[in-house]
Amino acid sequence: MFPSINPTATKSWEALKKHAEEMKKVHMRALFMENRERFSEFSLRFEDILFDYSKNIITEDTRNLLLGLAEECGVPAAIKAMFGAEKINVTENRAVLHTALRNTSDKPVLLDGRDVMPDVKAVLNKMDHICRQIHSGEWKGYTGKPIRYIVNIGIGGSDLGPVMVTEALKPYWKPNIQPYFVSNVDGTHIAETLKKITPDETLFLIASKTFTTQETMTNAHTARNWFLEYAKDEKFVAKHFVALSTNEKAVTAFGIDPKNMFEFWDWVGGRYSLWSAIGLSIALTVGFENFTQLLDGAHAVDTHFADTPLEQNIPVIMALIGLWYTNFFGSTTEAILVYDQYMHRFAAYFQQGNMESNGKSADRTGHNVSYETGPIVWGEPGTNGQHAFYQLIHQGTHLIPCDFIAPAISHNPIGDHHVKLLSNFFAQTEALMNGKTAEEVRAELEKAGTPEAEIAKIQPSKIFSGNRPTNSFLLKEINPRSLGELIALYEHKIFVQGVIWNIYSFDQWGVELGKQLAGKILPELENNEVVLNHDASTNGLINAWKAMKAP
Ligand code: F6P
Repeated sequence: MFPSINPTATKSWEALKKHAEEMKKVHMRALFMENRERFSEFSLRFEDILFDYSKNIITEDTRNLLLGLAEECGVPAAIKAMFGAEKINVTENRAVLHTALRNTSDKPVLLDGRDVMPDVKAVLNKMDHICRQIHSGEWKGYTGKPIRYIVNIGIGGSDLGPVMVTEALKPYWKPNIQPYFVSNVDGTHIAETLKKITPDETLFLIASKTFTTQETMTNAHTARNWFLEYAKDEKFVAKHFVALSTNEKAVTAFGIDPKNMFEFWDWVGGRYSLWSAIGLSIALTVGFENFTQLLDGAHAVDTHFADTPLEQNIPVIMALIGLWYTNFFGSTTEAILVYDQYMHRFAAYFQQGNMESNGKSADRTGHNVSYETGPIVWGEPGTNGQHAFYQLIHQGTHLIPCDFIAPAISHNPIGDHHVKLLSNFFAQTEALMNGKTAEEVRAELEKAGTPEAEIAKIQPSKIFSGNRPTNSFLLKEINPRSLGELIALYEHKIFVQGVIWNIYSFDQWGVELGKQLAGKILPELENNEVVLNHDASTNGLINAWKAMKAP
């Protein structure tokens, strides 16, 4: 096991604190002026992905100090421990092996002395088989028609990944297959979905690692009842319901034949599970070959992450840059801004990835941390975001490091749409870095013939301080392989940050309390009695609801 190190007790942390005070006086504009080679010195390439991190408030010294921090905090040992199947998810006593799910090499992955790869491959073969059956029309519904609709019922990690990837890869969708995703326990979600499908042409995928999650089980039962209203016979359930889960007992109890269960294992975290059987909706939507490409891309990044020295290791650099602002500049949020409409759920996906992984305040020794951990992650696609919240990023009082992501080639090369999109991508990172000085604003206003009194009034509002950090990811194209690569880069970034923050990134106890309390309150909502056993606000809300819903 890699050591537990308080990052603030390291020499690097002290040095970074001092260095940050100096760097807060530096403007990136000056850094670019001083060093013509800055772009090549602060960018890395991986296959068809260019990662430009030169527009950050960093110098070579910053990078060296940050790399020193990673060394001192045991990042290399942690990487070895994860790939070596050590039980680094200590609070759940589990290994963290989503990398095994995409291990397309011939290398074994030994967990407690046993190679997990034969099981992984067996499930992949089963997924391949059902994809072929569905796509060829060989798998028929209860009236003899082929399957046209896939409905994935899952939530959190059993939903966000498949939704994000299927949306991102829409150009690769199989003809005649329409996927839907139902996650919310709000009945509206399933009701609206059921309106769009026909029972005899639908395959429901009940996606739940635990097969106990309230939302998923509720939606699954509603789907089953709806289906049986039409099919009238339980024997047809087998043709229309499959389970993606680790819990065979609960799957069987639900009425799904274990032979229609696609298994995965407790060493796959929910938010890292799109590579597992949870990815069946992806494979059914884009085809198994494309799903394999996604795995291949992720595996290529795993190899890069495991084998590349820290200074050229993209996830490590991504992690260190994020940490630089979180811990030394007081940034509390990070934006992910994709300039690709198909990627519109990418930020939402990594919101869970980051915030469920690193939203922790107990360290690996059980003490409360004295430093910031995971930032708030958010974002919307460009250029829409530009007309919504970029104002604050440019001129607000918060420092918000942003990741800009764009494909060089569009899947929809219509007219000049893509050059316009990319001109915005490039312009935004340039503007955020350069800003606009008081002198530049004045010169612009004078040139436009603005009277002096007017200039004095509006000039301050038109100044942009600039020096707002961005990373740029330019991908040749969003395709299954490059998407797999990009996702894996972000996953490993989260891992490295968790190691340095000395927290457990692979549990999620923070979602439990709300679940437990909801379980307690549910029976209280099922009668008309006045509720008095909570705090005054909760009692007040529940009783007001009871009064409001009364006929
Ligand atoms: O939100 C908590 C969580 O446990 C996530 O980590 C997980 O992805 C999600 O719930 C769904 O869990 P399951 O796949 O077990 O239904």
